[in-house]
Amino acid sequence: MKSLSRSVAKAEPSQTLALSALARKLHAEGVDVVTLTAGEPDFPTPFHIKEAAKKAIEDNFTTYTHNAGIPELRQAIAEKFNRDNGLHFDSSQILVSNGAKHSLYNTLKAICNKGDEVIIPSPYWVSYPQMVALVDAKPVFVQTAEEDGFKMTAAQLRQAITKKTKALLFCTPANPTGAVYSQEEIEELARVVEETDIYVIADEIYEKVIYNGAKHFSMGSIEAVKDHVVTVNGVSKAYSMTGWRIGFLGAGKDIVSAAEKVQSQVTSNASSISQHAALAALTGPEDELKAMAAEFRRRRDFIYPAVTSIKGITCHHPCGAFYVFPNVSSYFGATHAGKVMKSGDDIAQFLLDEEKVVVVPGSGFGSRDHVRISYACSMSELERAAERLERGFRKLQ
Ligand SMILES: Cc1ncc(COP(=O)(O)O)c(C=O)c1O
Repeated sequence: MKSLSRSVAKAEPSQTLALSALARKLHAEGVDVVTLTAGEPDFPTPFHIKEAAKKAIEDNFTTYTHNAGIPELRQAIAEKFNRDNGLHFDSSQILVSNGAKHSLYNTLKAICNKGDEVIIPSPYWVSYPQMVALVDAKPVFVQTAEEDGFKMTAAQLRQAITKKTKALLFCTPANPTGAVYSQEEIEELARVVEETDIYVIADEIYEKVIYNGAKHFSMGSIEAVKDHVVTVNGVSKAYSMTGWRIGFLGAGKDIVSAAEKVQSQVTSNASSISQHAALAALTGPEDELKAMAAEFRRRRDFIYPAVTSIKGITCHHPCGAFYVFPNVSSYFGATHAGKVMKSGDDIAQFLLDEEKVVVVPGSGFGSRDHVRISYACSMSELERAAERLERGFRKLQ
């Protein structure tokens, strides 16, 4: 048999999806498991959005659409970018895809050549390095520090840029750290982008899940770099629509038409029904969205002190997204049932074996010292989690 693709062989399947599947399996087997892996809101999609989808079906809106998305949705996205982010695109500069993940991949495919370098601040979302490798480019990691709130500085960015650098993958609010860059911090990074003429792929999927008075700022709204920035967003996290698979990007015309070409040959348009649902989301009332963000904040305000009150655990205070990312390295060297803890992977396995709590090891996000806890689950689940985490770590002391 001939060998299979080397770049695919090297890629790893998503660890978070695998752990969520394991948690579902344990639950189905009747194990009393507490799952803290969810990368998605646990609320139903708002009623008016579901109604719009039902209407699209009833109206037989079931054929292929324009590859880049239905005109009304592209227009609504252009207006959203203008209204919320100060980004001025016309609708021909918008590409609707099958989730923000797809928008990110289409962008990377559109701009990268073999051997190009793509800078990724670490810790990072699991899929970034894998996607970069899948387009034969090279991920270059910039290690951010917990003391700096896991934010890359302009000096760090400058230092990482070489002749081969094609782009920076930039996420704020960030998964898994919950870091939110301020306008000033983004302006400093943008000055480096302008001087060095690289692209920025700005992943703003957690834009609406933000607290502490932190304000989301889009790098693409800075005039001097607007043509360098591809802004990626979607409806998954903001409107609790992960399963509908609608993401989008706004960018300069050349990038959009290259990404559109990739999409046209690989998937064609995103689901016609989901596009109508996304249109209702982006043009409808935002009160449920605000209620969801408030509920996430309430949960964070419960789980963050619960986790940081455990002896030896330090944790950056997240200002956005729905994760805490505690540093568990003070437990390395502790032994349980003859096994020495050496990494976040060992700690995650221990918590699963001993307390039936599923967290995601930090290694998939670029850190062996951390684990990721999602608080996209009910308050009662978080209460059970807090109890088990406290008991589990006590066993390691
Ligand atoms: C940082 C980040 N970007 C993009 C995505 C993908 O979003 P979508 O579900 O719209 O593909 C996720 C999903 O977990 C994410 O965490």
